[in-house]
Amino acid sequence: MANNKILILAGDCVGPEVMMQARRVLSWLNDTGAASFEIEDGLVGGASYDAYGNPLTDETVKLALEADAVLFGSIGGPQWDGVDYDLRPEKGLLRLRQGMGLFANLRPAIVFDALSGASALKTELVKSLNIMIVRELIGGIYFGEPRGIEDLGNRGQRGYNTQAYATEEIVRIGHVAYELARKRDKRVCSVDKANVMESGVVWREEITKLHDTNYTDIELSHMFVDNCSMQLVRAPKQFDVILTDNLFGDILSDLAAMLTGSLGMLPSASLGAVGDNGRQPALYEPVHGSAPDIAGQNKCNPLAQILSLSMMLRYSFEMEDQADLVENAVEAVLGKNIRTGDIAGEGINPVGTVEMGDAVLKEMEVLAG
Ligand code: IPM
Ligand code: MG
Repeated sequence: MANNKILILAGDCVGPEVMMQARRVLSWLNDTGAASFEIEDGLVGGASYDAYGNPLTDETVKLALEADAVLFGSIGGPQWDGVDYDLRPEKGLLRLRQGMGLFANLRPAIVFDALSGASALKTELVKSLNIMIVRELIGGIYFGEPRGIEDLGNRGQRGYNTQAYATEEIVRIGHVAYELARKRDKRVCSVDKANVMESGVVWREEITKLHDTNYTDIELSHMFVDNCSMQLVRAPKQFDVILTDNLFGDILSDLAAMLTGSLGMLPSASLGAVGDNGRQPALYEPVHGSAPDIAGQNKCNPLAQILSLSMMLRYSFEMEDQADLVENAVEAVLGKNIRTGDIAGEGINPVGTVEMGDAVLKEMEVLAG
């Protein structure tokens, strides 16, 4: 088996803690011969700022581009609140996404059977929920120019950003959503704000055109983002694939995550275009942030990180069996009511981060026979 190279960027606060449990899963796969991963480590976010005065160095971008996949933890924390805006930990992640050309962000919101009671919504609304949010990740208002803060003298100041989307950017993310839908329930709901924003008008037109020329087997619908957020809470199971832009995707994916009971459960994959070398740049990270309030206390849920790893096995390495093994192990652990605090609910004594990792590894042993 050829060696697959993974760059681990654990990041800040709970990042290294949850990553430690994912590392144990990787080691298990290596040790049992189920995979052959070569692992390199790098710094990102506040950790990189502390070491190099910069949340992402060129060297780290280079390592990321050379790796077959990047496994990312989480970044940020109050200790970097005072840092220059352009050197904030978040900028490290944004520049990494841009530097790797990761335009497609896949955020599945799946409710595990054992957790349907953990959602803030009624169980019947979320039971067996399986949505895929496809978020455009390197365009729109996050990166649009001009942007800045203008000094208005004695009238104060003015902050501004630009929301813009061009055909090419819309079409490439559109393909991703339609292709994914083909492997699912064949429905795409494209979400925009075309009633108010020109960027939304263009988005809607291009997504429709792409549908009519290439994907007539897929059922396409459009929704305004305000309505979509309402529908996600009212009747989330109406959705299969939700396709949307960078900012709306950021907001809707946190909302969708909470439908599943906890932000601590949701993985994500960020993918770029396949290069001339046949390699697709890819980064896998939990949707949750760095949770400074519980960092260093062995309290955080490592499952989103572990499930991000299983997305990596599936999307970057086509290791379907190994990915199934990890996911089935997670499901088995939840089925045994082993829970971290965020998903424990009433009557269950929460376990710590490490104990959750122990439990997943134990189930992997059992399932692998
Ligand atoms: C996310 C995060 C990031 C984003 C932040 C940390 C820059 O919220 O991945 O959803 O806004 O994209
Ligand atoms: Mg977010």
